[in-house]
Amino acid sequence: MPLPPSSSTQRSPTKMLERALSSRRNALYADEAAAENDAVAADESKTKKHLPISFFTTRITNYLTRTGPVWPCLLLLALVLFLIFSLIFNSRRFVCVSPYDPVSRSGFFGFDGLESDFGSLGVPWCRSKHGKTVEWTSKDLIKGLEVFIPIYETRPIKNNQFGMGFDHSFGLWFIAQWLKPDLMIESGAFKGHSTWVLRQAMPDTPIITLTPRHPEKYLKKGPAYVDGNCTYFSGKDFLDFGSIDWRKLMKKHGITDLSRVLIFFDDHQNELKRVRQALKAGFRHLVFEDNYDTGTGDHYSLRQICDQPYIRGGGHSCFKDSDEARIRSRRKKFWEKAVDIDELCGPGEAWWGVRGYMLDDFNNSKSNKLISYSEHFQNSRFVESILDVYWEVPPVAGPSLTHQTRYDPARAVTPVVEDGRYGLFQRLGLTRLNPSVFNGYTQMAYLQISKQ
Ligand SMILES: C[S@@+](CC[C@H](N)C(=O)[O-])C[C@H]1O[C@@H](n2cnc3c(N)ncnc32)[C@H](O)[C@@H]1O
Repeated sequence: MPLPPSSSTQRSPTKMLERALSSRRNALYADEAAAENDAVAADESKTKKHLPISFFTTRITNYLTRTGPVWPCLLLLALVLFLIFSLIFNSRRFVCVSPYDPVSRSGFFGFDGLESDFGSLGVPWCRSKHGKTVEWTSKDLIKGLEVFIPIYETRPIKNNQFGMGFDHSFGLWFIAQWLKPDLMIESGAFKGHSTWVLRQAMPDTPIITLTPRHPEKYLKKGPAYVDGNCTYFSGKDFLDFGSIDWRKLMKKHGITDLSRVLIFFDDHQNELKRVRQALKAGFRHLVFEDNYDTGTGDHYSLRQICDQPYIRGGGHSCFKDSDEARIRSRRKKFWEKAVDIDELCGPGEAWWGVRGYMLDDFNNSKSNKLISYSEHFQNSRFVESILDVYWEVPPVAGPSLTHQTRYDPARAVTPVVEDGRYGLFQRLGLTRLNPSVFNGYTQMAYLQISKQ
């Protein structure tokens, strides 16, 4: 597989990305600062003609004597009109703008505020055994975007509500085309958008799809995607990932090395359960679509499992007067998916998972389980003990560019295209996409399991 474990760099994924991005930002700002200095110098050279103040006062007095009181009256009128307009404009912010409106948000935080916002509440991540990270860089992601955007524009399912939006479609495509697996397995296909994304990354690679309802069933009502080189376990043939004899099935497909297989989970099942099943079968490359933040979502996710006090942004206090409680309640006004302390904490101050629950199967009360903090802690220790790499797909661009209103940047890694880089956003062709496609980001994660 062209993604052998990268030579063990000891940097965290975020740090690596941050380093690459900050050097890029410095270069950009150096250019901008130089241009700004030139402009200021030019402006100053135009205005600096050191004339005495008496020169101006004499000229104004002479002029007023000639024209009478008309001009002072007009000036006063203009001043009154200006005051009225600015009052109306400012009061709009308080009375008639939606709390999720990006303009009102930027008015509140300021665009600089948004820019430095990413990760400000901490981004829990799963520690790997040797601190390894992925081998691709932010430059590779930008190059990938250049290729993927025109492909995405040809997608058969334009409105994929309840399925993946742009950020995760790009993430899945990028990972698949980088790893170049011999076979891809998908659990949870809905109308087939993710199958189509996998196919764009690897045109000739076989796919196995497990999904209760065959995507062809959706064709009667509208667009769907059915792949010609895909084995479907659907309808009466549906089998859950955990009940398949994978060694036997892989052999049938001519696969002997299971580390050359990529698995994509978008089936809203407890991710701890899925990691155990994949490990037992011998798979090593997993992608989880909905990697929900603590207190949100309908299943126990990797992000939730690794939300532990020893990780920055991990572990929470249910104390209502804490700094975290104050910041969270403020942010909840601006981002739909932000949760405040009341939502985060369940009975007995249980903040882990979702209010102390390990949710499963689309928040099915029959499969959900209340767990103690020590169980939750043991879960993270287990995951860390089998992990070589954990990487969260970054959001494609900052919210001042995409106008997304859902995920809270304070709990997300730095985006590929940062706020303020409109030129790059436009050059890549991202302005051509409907803003609704940027509203589905839930921290998609790539996991590499260590060789057992
Ligand atoms: C969010 S949708 C998948 C969206 C799709 N990946 C996309 O990008 O458009 C979740 C899918 O998981 C399916 N599902 C439910 N239980 C499942 C299970 N145990 N195994 C596999 N798929 C399951 C649902 O029927 C649904 O099609």
